Amino acid sequence: MPNKKEIILTGIKPTGTLHLGNLVGAIMPVIKMANDPKAGQSFVFIADLHALNAVSDRNEISKHTHEIVASFLALGLDAERTVFFRQSDVPEVTELSMLLMNVTPKGLMNRAHAYKAAVDKNIAAATDADAGINMGLYTYPILMAADILLYGSDLVPVGADQKQHVEFARDIAGSFNNIYGNILNLPKPFIRAETGVVPGLDGRKMSKSYGNQIPLFDTPNDMKKKIMRIITDSKLPAEPKNPDESTIFQLYQHFADAASVTALRKKFLSGGMGYGEAKKILNDAIDAYLAEPRATYNALMSAPKKIDAILAAGAVRARAMAGVTLARVKSAMLG
Ligand code: ADP
Ligand code: TRP
Repeated sequence: MPNKKEIILTGIKPTGTLHLGNLVGAIMPVIKMANDPKAGQSFVFIADLHALNAVSDRNEISKHTHEIVASFLALGLDAERTVFFRQSDVPEVTELSMLLMNVTPKGLMNRAHAYKAAVDKNIAAATDADAGINMGLYTYPILMAADILLYGSDLVPVGADQKQHVEFARDIAGSFNNIYGNILNLPKPFIRAETGVVPGLDGRKMSKSYGNQIPLFDTPNDMKKKIMRIITDSKLPAEPKNPDESTIFQLYQHFADAASVTALRKKFLSGGMGYGEAKKILNDAIDAYLAEPRATYNALMSAPKKIDAILAAGAVRARAMAGVTLARVKSAMLG
């Protein structure tokens, strides 16, 4: 856990409907950190500008933005304590991004994993190296540096795939400070402790790119249908089963208390329980875990004005802080 006064900031891109892997791997750890009364100020935002390099449908961006806001609130994010906002509501971030371009070496962007992966894919397909790559993707790390540096962030909780971006933000802040004096705070990535990869319906990592996900706030009926479709081996009910090789058991561990997990492990090992029964036990546990948040989520989703009001209040707080940093940067660069 972070030290007393460290400023914590993270962003979530509104590019897909959230699933149980996101819940366990990202949402719960972020809420825990942001709500921690011992930590400093926390900032959580929806990175809608970052979605633009890949998504051109505004309805999709806006729908996922609302879903993420409702999910975080339903799962307990304290929006009084945390500054909770939408990136595009803070125009200061695009201005800072433009200013930071002038202290960012082009070579740094050439080394960014996401850009390199897109280039490699083009080369493998024998097309032009930069085919389909827009400047939003190429300069993505500079906008992310602006997100981070605008609020004086100390700690940036992210998944391992985003570590390089936070290191770039630190490099960019270092270059800026070398030229203009000690103005920008140097952030550190905070890679979330491995809570374990949540498996999807086919046993691979749950991911929207595999289409094997269980959406976080599906209706109980749809969720049950998905859970009943989890792929298992063909062991008969009477046979003993290995819990550590079972997607059902792996998922169960995230939603049941320790005593229930031990009890289900025993049932797997002793035999006498079919996979259908195990799936029902898993479904009951997930259902119980999500029942209350789901009710709050549904209430918020049917009151979009409420969500907009929360985002508007967050933007006012975010802009107050952002304006201070931006003014210092502009005065250092332009007088
Ligand atoms: P997807 O793979 O569905 O595209 P994202 O990459 O958008 O998911 O995930 C956002 C964050 O959610 C990741 O940084 C990671 O921390 C977490 N996450 C996603 N899938 C899983 C999973 N199966 N298990 C644990 N954490 C996950
Ligand atoms: N790039 C991050 C992702 O794809 C989202 C993001 C945008 C972010 N700005 C940020 C994360 C600032 C942390 C800090 O997941």
